[in-house]
Amino acid sequence: MTPRGGLVDRFGRAHHDLRISLTDRCSLRCTYCMPAEGVPWLARSTMLSTEEIVRVARVGVDLGIREIRLTGGEPLLRVDVVDVVRRLTALTTPEGEPVEVSLTTNALRMPALAAPLRDAGLTRVNISLDTLDRAKFLQLTRRDKLVETLAGIAAADAAGLHPVKINAVAMRGVNDDEIVALTRFAVDRGYQMRFIEQMPLDGGHTWDRKVMVTQAEMLEQLTSAFTLTEVPGRGAAPAELWYVDGGPHTVGVIASVTAPFCGACDRLRLTADGQLRACLFSQAEVDTREVLRSDEPADVVDEGIAAAYRRCLAGKKAGHDIDDPTFLQPNRPMSAIGG
Ligand code: 5AD
Ligand code: SF4
Repeated sequence: MTPRGGLVDRFGRAHHDLRISLTDRCSLRCTYCMPAEGVPWLARSTMLSTEEIVRVARVGVDLGIREIRLTGGEPLLRVDVVDVVRRLTALTTPEGEPVEVSLTTNALRMPALAAPLRDAGLTRVNISLDTLDRAKFLQLTRRDKLVETLAGIAAADAAGLHPVKINAVAMRGVNDDEIVALTRFAVDRGYQMRFIEQMPLDGGHTWDRKVMVTQAEMLEQLTSAFTLTEVPGRGAAPAELWYVDGGPHTVGVIASVTAPFCGACDRLRLTADGQLRACLFSQAEVDTREVLRSDEPADVVDEGIAAAYRRCLAGKKAGHDIDDPTFLQPNRPMSAIGG
């Protein structure tokens, strides 16, 4: 039971997962996420302070949030990311349970930060790695950083941030010939590989449903090289999972477009500038910054934040409608929403 009614949307879905974007800045420029140049950065003055982030998170936890994932942009570019993690892991649910804090990263700063993050209570990481080929890495992230990314992945593993999950967005003509190689790379090292259908979130607006690599195609490649057996009990997880060659390692596919998991979605998002979003693809946002920066007494501010959560949930749609002809790409780049 959660106090004050919990975070239930009009479809009766209880929300337990909050994704917090710590910054919209990034050290890479992945084509499916950002344009090469001319990113409209959020103004510094609009970005939430650590105090403000922890406050919005704490009210969310009082209402039923149990899991927090830090995203970006690149969350490790925030100078006080270790402090943010330490303060968020110190939050407890109304049942007295600790809040699980994880992070999605490009791993470039992991060699320096993996151990401090672990000591601050971070449980696990999702790392983006779309290719094992240096030239392709440069082509698709527009930075020559494959070697550094691999070092970052190894550092997260060595620090015990397990399970290390690797995310790859499948792109036709770019990395769709590496599905097997990436899976082998992950299985050999005990990482969990996850392939993701590309969604229309790219800064360059080049996404095309007809060109997108589908889950069915990815599975065709995977089954040509491995014996896959379905892992039961998916719950609210977006990835469908298979044991590779009898396990214990798994490979997953997130069919965000051809088989969306919207029906089981229990996520809310907080942008780095304090806007609550019910979905990656929301057109509407609910502001928390104004009440956070008001002169109201503490309990009034907290109630205002709780009201913002409720308003955000009330506007949550049944699904993302990517296949609907009236679908509109979100009004912010992915880097300013948070993965
Ligand atoms: N489609 C699917 N996933 C995306 N991500 C970013 N942009 C997209 C997109 N257009 C996901 C990737 C990346 C994480 C930060 O967000 O998994 O690893
Ligand atoms: Fe940066 Fe991640 Fe976007 Fe790539 S996908 S540009 S690593 S935020």
